Amino acid sequence: MIIVLFGKPGAGKGTQAPLLAAALGVPTLATGDELRGAIRAGTDLGREAKGFMDRGDLVPDSVILGIIKQALSEPRAASGVLLDGVVRTVPQAEGLATVCAELGKKVDAVLVFDIDDDEIVQRLAGRTVCETCQTPYTGRAPGTKCDKDGGTLVRRKDDEPDAIRNRLAVYEKQTAPVLAWYREHDTKVAVIDAVGPVQDVTARALSALAS
Ligand code: AP5
Repeated sequence: MIIVLFGKPGAGKGTQAPLLAAALGVPTLATGDELRGAIRAGTDLGREAKGFMDRGDLVPDSVILGIIKQALSEPRAASGVLLDGVVRTVPQAEGLATVCAELGKKVDAVLVFDIDDDEIVQRLAGRTVCETCQTPYTGRAPGTKCDKDGGTLVRRKDDEPDAIRNRLAVYEKQTAPVLAWYREHDTKVAVIDAVGPVQDVTARALSALAS
């Protein structure tokens, strides 16, 4: 089972990914988390990605496709994977389809978390994330501690107002067209209302997958 979690920055993909993964019994791949981990570790990948990410631009497709290919080939992905933050361009959709075909898999569904821009700006302006496990929080100050692992909560550089505006523009230009690509390629695309209590959004997503 390969499920693509899709939506504007701040739509709630990272919040929903572990909840849906636990319910479905599959692991997650969050490219944003992988890239931030590489930046913290100071690897070549991190150095290549940092400038793009800080500005709110997309990291080149070739880099993302390398991450996807490696993750889908791992034994832990044998029963499937939830993709959080992949796919964001039509070339990534095409590349993922090729990798899936090589591995005898396919994308089963695209879950679109639907939310308007005002709500996004409000969410991201108040977001902090755990610097170790990446759990996102709203309304918790930087420097306070994560409920899950005691890690320090920090603000993401791309949650500054200019970067948020750029990420929303990049979404409209480069990412939104991916939905038409999936519809043309006969993949189930389910649009979920992403506003409301987190557990309600999870229930809507699971119900859409089951229908
Ligand atoms: P990434 O980390 O994936 O960021 P994003 O897609 O911009 O998404 P966010 O993490 O900002 O939002 P989210 O939808 O996960 O929402 P969240 O659950 O955190 O990518 C970062 C960067 O990496 C990209 O800009 C790009 O540079 C690069 N990158 C990554 N993947 C790439 C790819 N495939 N191709 C190219 N480049 C790539 O929630 C947001 C806030 O809302 C949180 O505070 C949360 O607590 C709160 N919240 C969540 N749900 C609710 C709710 N129901 N009600 C109220 N508040 C809620």
